[in-house]
This record gives sequence, C-alpha cells and structure tokens, in this order.
Amino acid sequence: MTETKKRTLRSQHWFGGNDKDAFIHRSWMKNQGIPDDAFDGRPVIGICNTWSELTPCNAHFRDLAEAVKRGVLEAGGLPVEFPVMSLGESNLRPTAMLFRNLASMDVEESIRANPLDGVVLLTGCDKTTPALLMGAASVDLPTIVLSGGPMLNGNYRGKPIGSGTDVWKFSEEVRSGRMTQTQFKEAESCMSRSAGHCMTMGTASTMAAMVEALGVALPGNAAIPAVDARRKLQAQMTGRRIVGMVHEDLRLSHVLTRAAFENAIMVNGAIGGSTNAVVHLLAIAGRIGVELTLADWDRLGRDMPCLLNLMPSGQYLMEDFYYAGGLPVVMRELLGKLHGAAFTVTGASVADNVAHAENFNPEVIHPLAAPFKDDGGIAVLKGNLAPRGAIIKPSAASPALMRHRGRAVVFDSIEHYKRRIDDPELEIDADSVMVLQNCGPKGYPGMAEVGNMGLPKKLLAQGVTDMVRISDARMSGTAFGTVVLHVAPEAAMGGPLALVRDGDMIELDVPNRRLHLEVDDAELARRKEAWRAPEPAMRGGYQSMYTEHVLQADQGVDLDFLVGCRGSAVPRESH
Ligand code: FES
Repeated sequence: MTETKKRTLRSQHWFGGNDKDAFIHRSWMKNQGIPDDAFDGRPVIGICNTWSELTPCNAHFRDLAEAVKRGVLEAGGLPVEFPVMSLGESNLRPTAMLFRNLASMDVEESIRANPLDGVVLLTGCDKTTPALLMGAASVDLPTIVLSGGPMLNGNYRGKPIGSGTDVWKFSEEVRSGRMTQTQFKEAESCMSRSAGHCMTMGTASTMAAMVEALGVALPGNAAIPAVDARRKLQAQMTGRRIVGMVHEDLRLSHVLTRAAFENAIMVNGAIGGSTNAVVHLLAIAGRIGVELTLADWDRLGRDMPCLLNLMPSGQYLMEDFYYAGGLPVVMRELLGKLHGAAFTVTGASVADNVAHAENFNPEVIHPLAAPFKDDGGIAVLKGNLAPRGAIIKPSAASPALMRHRGRAVVFDSIEHYKRRIDDPELEIDADSVMVLQNCGPKGYPGMAEVGNMGLPKKLLAQGVTDMVRISDARMSGTAFGTVVLHVAPEAAMGGPLALVRDGDMIELDVPNRRLHLEVDDAELARRKEAWRAPEPAMRGGYQSMYTEHVLQADQGVDLDFLVGCRGSAVPRESH
C-alpha cells in the first residue's frame, strides 16, 4: 500500500478530485450501490470476462468472476467486471481464429479507455486466452490471467474419452463402419460432462499452461478442473494478487520477457502442447515487443522430450494431470533447462514458484530422465514448398512417416477435399501425400483447423491409420497425425503450395527439417505465371480489413497495424 500512496493511480484521473468530471464519473458508478469511499484511491481492478452461453467452455465464468471479486475486495481493491467479445471454438464460423485479433482490439481499447489500474483476464476456450493477452499486452497495465479450467474427464461406456481427440477417432470409426450412428450420438453426452474447456492437451489446455509457464498466471492455473472447488480458490487468490501487483506497479512487460517466452516454448514441448501455441505466442510477443521467431521454436524444442502422457499424444486427460501435480511438476522437472530466474506475477521467480512441486503419478507426468516421448517440441520445416516455414508436431505423428516421399493428391479448398475424398475413383494410396490449399490466414479466411484431413474411406477400410498431410491451415490441438501445418507463404498469396499439382513428388524429412517439392524451378515459374488469386469469400466489413492486413503464420497471424504496445496513457476528457 505504501508504494501506491506515493503515486496517483490511473483510476484517480477519473474518480479523484471535486470537479464536474469527477462528479460524473463517480455518480454514475454509484448507481450500482458503490459507496463513496470506494473511490478514495484504492486500486480499481477490471475483470475482463469472456462469459457467453455461446462459448460453452466459458459459460461458468460469472461464478468465477464473483470469486475474483471476493479476492479483490479482501485485498482492498474495487473490482469492476466488464464483458469483451467471447470466442467459442465449437460454434463460431468460419473459424474462431478469424476473430482472435478482433477480440484483442476490443480488449485493448476496453482496458485503455476505462478507469482501470489492473486487470484480471478470464480466459478458457482456445482463442480467448491469446486474444485477451494480446489486447492486454498492447496496454501493459498490471495484468494477471485466470483460466477457467478443463472439463472433467469424458467417460463413454466405462472408458475415459477426450474432447476432440475421440471425436476424430469416432468419426473415422463411423466412416469405416466400426461404430454405429446411435453409439456416435450417445458419445456426445459422455464427452462434455461438466463446465470447463476441452480436457485433452488441446489448444485451450495448452494456452492455460502457456500463461502459467510465461509467469502471467498463478502456479496451478493450467490443470485445476473447472468444477473443482480449488478453481474458485485460485480465482480468489488471483483477485487478491492483482491488487498487490498494482501496488508494486508490476506490469505485463516486467513478466513477458524473452526469457518468459523461451520458458513457454520449452514447456510446450514438454507437455506435447498444441501447434496453435506457435501462432499465439508469436502474436503475444509481437504485442509486448519481444522478438520471437519460428527459429526460436525449432531451437528450443529440438531436444525437448515430452513428459506428459496426455491425449492427443498419450492416453490421460487434464483431470489426471491435476491429480498428478499439474504444471509446477513439469516446470520443476525442467528447471535445468528453463530460465529459473524469470520473474512472475507472484513476485517470485519461476524456480521459487515450483520449488515444492511433487509428482504424485509418474505414469502421467514422466520424469525428465525417462520421458514419455523423446521428441516433444514443434519441428520447423523449410524448403521450396515452405520458404518461410511450416511446422509439424512429431509427438502426435507416426515415426514411420517422419521421413517420407510420396505422390501429391491436391485439394484446392476444404470443400474440394470433402467432395473428392470418398470418391472410389480417387487415385490415392497409403504412400500418397494429401495437400490442401487455400486454408491459410487470408485464404480461408482465418486459417481454419482443417489441416488434419480425415483419410479416404477406402484406405481406412484397409486399416491405414495415418498419412502425410500438408497445408497452410492449422489443426485442432486435440488432433493427431503426420500433419504439416502453417505453410508460409500460404497458397492464397501465391506461395509455392498453390503450385502443387496431382502427381508431383513431395519429400518430407523431419529429422533434417526439410519439405521439398520435386518440381524444377522453370516449371514452378510457368505455374506461377498461370496462377490467379482466389476470390475473397466476403467483401466489406471486418473480413475485408482482416484479409488486407493479416500477417502470415510465421509472424503470428496478427493484423499488421495491431503489432506493438501502445501503452496505458490516460485518454483525454470529453465531458
Ligand atoms: Fe472450447 Fe475446446 S471448444 S476449449
């Protein structure tokens, strides 16, 4: 408190003083029953809420916000909850990713324009975490993240099932005739049993782990189930802590350093995290002004073993991860590799935060000395097919396909793929390489999660379970397979991916980080000459602005004019 008393808090530019403006700011707030002494200079804490019934993963956030408020009040702050655009992965079309940057603009402007001294970000479903952190990073107030927590384990006919991961499996089983439609329908209710986000190590769980690894959430944030009482306790402690952070003027930029991002990339490898973390961390780094590239992902992930036996790479789920000790156990295990001195929102270092973590189930969290899989990191591929890079998640891929040469079968859109994939006449075999074009940031638009194309029915019936697939799309964090993603530049920009034709030979060599199209330069130049950009899906509105300004996957898919931190200067008065 002493620190704060020496300086005027930002909110006092609204609530301090005795003039007409202060009257207006206080009087209207008082219509909510807020007493006069709440405006006496105590920290005003914004609770940035992505609650929405259309974002089922975040539908319990009103309760969570109440627990945060209790913590803020206990610590002597004034909590004020405000809504921002919520992005529900399961409902939004064409893809939630199209709106991540839009939501981040909402967050940034809402924080800066209001009388706030500190912010709690309530995040859960995939895009809500990066969107809120990107927006907050462009303002740079004291900020802490609270994730909503994963759902309880799914359970179908006595067996655990995981969000997303088992949908893909069931869907292939229906297509190959091994599962009936009735069983498929029954599994729906068995998968999503409680409040919370996907309980596999998909993108939501990955991003919850990323914010903990970055040091912008309290330890334990990643794994506590949404409906466990300790999630509410975490919320209350988060509320208490943000008030302390305001007193200490502990801003995001003090925590989101290069060391923090390097820690997060290493942790992503160790947890077998989602490929989506690549574009999200690149975008967050861009907002706070930390230089981060795809090369960092490859360098830091190259020797990083995967410790977690969680779907989609393994067999367990987030609930099991929590009972085993959660992310602090993983980070303690990695201390020899991480930047242990990196500073966090607790006011202590990473090493201090995890010093007492204990592993209660080494079957779920393997020790570093006996990892679950040797190759946990994201591999970054380059070659004439991806001059600016592409990525693959080796821990979710088939070892036998990590070096592969095959004939391309090309789909120029996801609709083309859907029309063609089960055509009995389609010339495709297990060695073919499936290529999907025009699903990148501009092409889809929004870089849809369609990169893990399902295999042709006729090959499934033969027992084929994996094939090499290449696209400029993303893939759900819950998905698996030998899937090369995020090819840059994308096909819709005339990148080499647009020039692949049926029958071309493609070489994938993950150990040597190579992705090569065996077509000579002269022929590629001829094809480029004939190439025409696809018509945009929509003209006007946000989508036009998005398509015009979106950056490529290797730059985080942010909008070019949103990159950077614009600060928290108090906007001028208008009354
Ligand atoms: Fe929301 Fe998976 S759909 S986290």
